[in-house]
Amino acid sequence: MNAAPKIALTGIKPTGKPHIGNFLGMIRPAIDLSGRYRAFYFIADYHALTTYKDRATLQRHIYEVAATWLALGLDPGRVVFFRQSDIAEVFELTWILSCWAPKGLLNRAHAYKTAVQTNQDEGKEADEGVNAGLYNYPLLMAADILLFGSHLVPVGQDQKQHIEITRDIASSFNHRHGDIFTLPEALVGEEAKVVPGIDGRKMSKNYNNTIPIFDDPSAIRKQVMRIVTDSKSPQEPKDPDQCNVFAIYRHFAPPQAVERRLHAYRHGGLAYSDIKQELAHILAENFKPQRAAYEALLEDRAAVDRVLAQGAEQARSLARPLMSKLRRTIGID
Ligand code: TRP
Repeated sequence: MNAAPKIALTGIKPTGKPHIGNFLGMIRPAIDLSGRYRAFYFIADYHALTTYKDRATLQRHIYEVAATWLALGLDPGRVVFFRQSDIAEVFELTWILSCWAPKGLLNRAHAYKTAVQTNQDEGKEADEGVNAGLYNYPLLMAADILLFGSHLVPVGQDQKQHIEITRDIASSFNHRHGDIFTLPEALVGEEAKVVPGIDGRKMSKNYNNTIPIFDDPSAIRKQVMRIVTDSKSPQEPKDPDQCNVFAIYRHFAPPQAVERRLHAYRHGGLAYSDIKQELAHILAENFKPQRAAYEALLEDRAAVDRVLAQGAEQARSLARPLMSKLRRTIGID
């Protein structure tokens, strides 16, 4: 008999227009993974609530990410695709975990520590402006992960600590109460580390340096033309590994074109404006069919809702057995 397929789970925080860095670092690898794992991908709308307090903004971001993933090939027949907020069990589990998690573990979480540090640097009280949601964020994430018995959690480097916190809580719970929780492993996308934004720093909406996937071709061109390069002339040889344009180009151009450009980098004959034009064209063409699907989905929120509701149904039925077992274990039944 075949062993049951392992579970891959990830949360997508709806925080802004998905960009090329998200695509290479997260979306494409996660969609590929869904062929080999039982995949649970969800929109972490309640995580986004730590940041967004405005209805229209949060709604727009939710539908943008849902439409992006669906347009880029997430197959809801194969992936359990849902909204976090539809699964009441997640919040029940969050509370239970909070009663087992040492508070000190949360004091050490990066996002919270950074907020405290910033306050202290500015001479303010340590916790000023920090809501308890930000503090408890890692617990909500641990609940997302543990509720479905996830084995593998594809995330960016910045989320790795949250998986470690999840493992800590789960293993100390298991230690006392038997094997209730599966210990998850983080899968950190290598690509995400090397996709630069137009200013050369990691592509991130926080730096305002992104190339959005589905902007119209002229907007994409504008961003691509702004990518920072050195000022070498076309004749001079250049190091492709130091070039922010090439770092994106190599993921999208056909292999022969990449080879040709590599040769020109190394031996002279490459004009930055020229490869930028080509990159802008390739990006626009590459995502053209998906852009149409994306736009159609944005116009039809009811269709997106139906997909997510169906996913929530499946997710809940999978969450219930673990919750019953857990409640019995802790004495709430
Ligand atoms: N915190 C993650 C982020 O900021 C999103 C997220 C929420 C998540 N719950 C999760 C990721 C569970 C992986 C597993 O991107």
